[in-house]
Amino acid sequence: MVELDFILDVVKKSGQIIKKNFKGSILITHKGETDLVTNVDKEVDALIRDEIKKYFPQYGILSEEGGTLQGSSNKVFVVDPLDGTTNFVKGYPNVCISIALMEEKEVILGVIYNPISEDIYYAVKGGGSFKNGKLISVSKTENLSNSLLATGFPYDFSEYSNFPQFEALFRKTLSVRVDGSAALDLARVAEGVIDGYWEKGLSKWDIAAGSLIVMEANGVVSDFRNGGNYLEKGEIIAANPFLHPQILEVLNAL
Ligand code: IPD
Ligand code: CA
Ligand code: CA
Ligand code: CA
Repeated sequence: MVELDFILDVVKKSGQIIKKNFKGSILITHKGETDLVTNVDKEVDALIRDEIKKYFPQYGILSEEGGTLQGSSNKVFVVDPLDGTTNFVKGYPNVCISIALMEEKEVILGVIYNPISEDIYYAVKGGGSFKNGKLISVSKTENLSNSLLATGFPYDFSEYSNFPQFEALFRKTLSVRVDGSAALDLARVAEGVIDGYWEKGLSKWDIAAGSLIVMEANGVVSDFRNGGNYLEKGEIIAANPFLHPQILEVLNAL
């Protein structure tokens, strides 16, 4: 697939910028009280948009720092130029670039690249999921009591805090990680080192690529009502097929 080669190439170029500036002097501004953005987020966003316009001028673009560009085709690149901005600001090496390609409402291609660890995850619809070229699959953990989950908290938790949900699931599992990158949380579900993940208050660019990578790794993905509108609602449960219904049940019992 020509778009896959293009994205693999563009995330590597973007990764060089992130790596070069990691633990370096960066310019930080605030979008909200705890919602940070840096010159690197913006630089990478601009690079990816320029490359897309050059090679796929007919495709639309939705990116976190650049907004929406309408295209003439029904395909749209959905771009998070730097997922894990707070981690990046602190030099905590859990950061990535996440790019998905959507056709109408469906994600058909997803790539997640951590330039610090140099791990790359990708999936093409119907073709399985890969990490560094090797086929990956979700875990086989059957019970919540044996599971390790991941979640995240929204920058603005006036509408949904996630604290009750966190406590409920923390009490029923081995533990819950909060590692600051929604895309990498999904990648870890896909490779089976995290058994399940839930989060609300997200944007399309956080989860579009990762949702496909989880599904192509035999995982189950839904919104909090077990429906398929996770991208529109910005809420997601992603887990292996045993644990998905169990997480859903705990969240809906609150
Ligand atoms: C954030 C991260 C974080 C999640 C936030 C996102 P950003 O994205 O994915 O894990 O909890 O809701 O906004 O701002 O670092 O790209
Ligand atoms: Ca952000
Ligand atoms: Ca993000
Ligand atoms: Ca971002």
